[in-house]
Amino acid sequence: MRGYGLFRRCRFLLGGLATGMFAAAPGAAHASEDALLARGAYLARAADCVACHTRPGGPVFGGGYGIQSPMGVIYSSNITPSIRYGIGRWSEAGFARAVREGLSSDGRHLYPAMPYDSYSGLTDRDIHALYIYMRQGVAAVEQPVGAETRLRFPYNFRGLMGVWNWLFLDRTRFAPRPAETERAARGRYLVETIAHCGTCHTPRNFMMAAKRGKALSGARVGGWFAPDIAAGRNGPLASWRDEEIDAYLRNGHVRDRAVAAGPMGEAVEHSLRYLTDDDLAAITYYLRLIDRSGSGAIPVEPRRKTISGEREYGFSSAGSEAVLAMARRERAANPGPYADRRDYRSVAGGAALYRAACASCHQLDGSGTQDDYYPALRESTILRGGKPDNLVMTILAGVHRNGADGLAAMPAFRQDLSDAQIVAIVRFLSRTFGGREMAVDSAQVAALRRLDTADFAAQALPSGSRALNTRPERP
Ligand code: HEC
Ligand code: HEC
Ligand code: HEC
Repeated sequence: MRGYGLFRRCRFLLGGLATGMFAAAPGAAHASEDALLARGAYLARAADCVACHTRPGGPVFGGGYGIQSPMGVIYSSNITPSIRYGIGRWSEAGFARAVREGLSSDGRHLYPAMPYDSYSGLTDRDIHALYIYMRQGVAAVEQPVGAETRLRFPYNFRGLMGVWNWLFLDRTRFAPRPAETERAARGRYLVETIAHCGTCHTPRNFMMAAKRGKALSGARVGGWFAPDIAAGRNGPLASWRDEEIDAYLRNGHVRDRAVAAGPMGEAVEHSLRYLTDDDLAAITYYLRLIDRSGSGAIPVEPRRKTISGEREYGFSSAGSEAVLAMARRERAANPGPYADRRDYRSVAGGAALYRAACASCHQLDGSGTQDDYYPALRESTILRGGKPDNLVMTILAGVHRNGADGLAAMPAFRQDLSDAQIVAIVRFLSRTFGGREMAVDSAQVAALRRLDTADFAAQALPSGSRALNTRPERP
């Protein structure tokens, strides 16, 4: 790092002399250079560059992360300042073309596995800060990516992406609109461009381009469903308070609302938890401006009856007694060896399974623990809304997320529970705590199981990973 420091200072001074701006004030030069680097680092976080450009266990920004698409596996690039393997020789203009337009320095078209269709709105000022950071704040990785992208014909012909760009790429740079407040403009820029929420939350057409007019209205991401996040009066998040949306993005969980698992957990862990209070507030503000009136969407009833202090707790509540009685009946109907807690093979029936596998943390009556470390399931959005996907995925994959307020961990049950057992638990939970039984069957769980993978970023891609039906290869 020290070597870099010297290098960047020299470069900076030269740059300063050339423009004549800082030639007379090297002290100020350092301060503003550090500020520029810090801005670049912040933007890289907010844009989550590291998620795709670092392979599991590999060097930071060293590339080689394999992204599965229906056309084949696409490997990310080494974007460190290595002259030989990275972008060490790239000009700022070249860098800008890659990030905003999907054109590599040698004129090759990049696949939209690199989300340049979101980044296309980045301002020149932010591209500059990102460039300076990527060149001077990141350690060079002197290693080749180690894997080569080889797609099937005709996709191996990168020129095709030129056509895609011509059809779908919006090259408009972000600029505040005349009637827009500063906060709304910042929120729009963060949501649509930098933090690219639409990469996951916006549905795509058959060519994997974002559907116009459907921004953020909900889309599949591998086995997960990234829900509609409109928070205007008729949006599904209408009943969430501002602080709750902020807290969800920063910490990944909000009491009696929802927790961020899967790809959203990753977005919180690698990116959103680092955003400033102002930026989070701007995102929330912008989501409030998105309404669904006229779209036929039904406003979601606020349903917060058993809130905080008075929450029933422990094993003595009426709810717990009812679940316990159900579990006893199911166990009596399916007697068998029931050796240890981690072996659920002989357990049948949703209530009995819930009691054996889940109640130790979520409590028998689904009320969670008072400190909310183990969340209540009764009030959670995940049990409502009809789609069982995220509930099934959470059971299969568990939760492992570092939010701004610490770690949340729930074990993955993919090895321990069969498809039929998961169906039983989902039915039991939605009927008992969610108010209405979800329609789900074993074939659905089996299909989701095939999509259960840790490469969330990979699933989020416009390049078609939504159709993914095999485990992504890892280099
Ligand atoms: C969702 C995954 C993803 C994210 C997020 C992402 N990239 Fe990429 N990026 C890729 C992939 C995959 C490639 C290689 C695409 C190809 O080979 O066609 C790539 C290619 C590039 C290239 C071209 C390198 C070369 O040698 O041609 C640059 C530069 C780049 N990314 C910079 C960035 C920056 C800066 C960010 C954050 C602002 C970022 N990327 C965020 C997936 C991603
Ligand atoms: C990598 C994909 C991905 C990205 C990027 C992403 N999300 Fe999500 N988001 C999801 C998924 C999947 C869920 C459902 C998670 C769950 O239930 O555990 C979700 C859930 C949410 C929820 C909870 C909604 C509810 O009804 O429970 C909110 C709010 C949200 N996202 C906001 C955002 C915002 C704002 C951004 C951009 C700053 C963003 N997300 C970026 C995938 C993503
Ligand atoms: C060892 C404790 C533990 C066990 C056992 C456990 N969980 Fe969890 N569960 C957690 C934690 C911790 C979270 C995440 C809390 C957070 O994100 O802040 C969680 C989250 C969840 C969520 C997401 C809630 C939401 O609002 O989106 C669901 C659903 C869930 N668990 C269901 C289950 C089911 C079903 C079982 C049994 C098959 C189970 N859990 C077993 C600890 C546990």
